Amino acid sequence: MQNQIYKGGRDQEIIELFIQTFSDSEGKKEGLLIGELVRNLLDRTPPQDLRVFLSTEEEEVIGGVFFSRMRFENSATATWLLSPAAVQTRFQGMGVGQNLIRFAHDCLREAGAEMAVTYGDINFYSKVGYQPVTIDIVPSPQPLSYPEGWIAQSLRREKLLPISGRSFCVEAINDPVYW
Ligand SMILES: CC(C)(COP(=O)(O)OP(=O)(O)OC[C@H]1O[C@@H](n2cnc3c(N)ncnc32)[C@H](O)[C@@H]1OP(=O)(O)O)[C@@H](O)C(=O)NCCC(=O)NCCS
Repeated sequence: MQNQIYKGGRDQEIIELFIQTFSDSEGKKEGLLIGELVRNLLDRTPPQDLRVFLSTEEEEVIGGVFFSRMRFENSATATWLLSPAAVQTRFQGMGVGQNLIRFAHDCLREAGAEMAVTYGDINFYSKVGYQPVTIDIVPSPQPLSYPEGWIAQSLRREKLLPISGRSFCVEAINDPVYW
């Protein structure tokens, strides 16, 4: 298993990984919805606002994680939103996801990132450092239908200080259906 920063040329394989993985875990409709999100992230996001990390096994993509830039009205904290993440169903539960996300955090940190945020299951994401936050600490770009899933971490081992005002995510994920 190898982790790498995605440099292009495998969009379709990545989209299919997300469709298949989410269809297996949450049904076909969710699989297609997440596949559309991934396609839009790849097609519509300015390169400076998107980082994609892949886990490969013998040249096959077995895992992927997307980070897109978040911005704040009142803060310059360099922040990346993790969403979505997937590990091929048959490779799940073997440490691939945690390993890939740690690799991604290291790469982002080296490039100056200060905070990572995501919206998901704390039972998994707490294993890679995420802690619940309220929107008074990190404002969400859209209203949250599941506030318990709003989680974040400093990539600088510092306490998160409250950020006031509005926040903004990239266009592809700025749709209430994902929040
Ligand atoms: C969530 C996911 C990315 C994790 O990757 P993975 O390689 O399977 O995870 P790892 O093997 O590194 O870690 C497994 C640990 O996380 C937990 N875990 C795995 N998937 C989980 C999930 N969907 N929800 C909660 N906990 C989960 C397991 O209990 C396991 O804990 P343990 O090590 O104490 O037994 C992967 O299972 C997946 O693609 N799931 C379907 C799609 C999804 O839910 N994506 C995340 C939302 S964006």
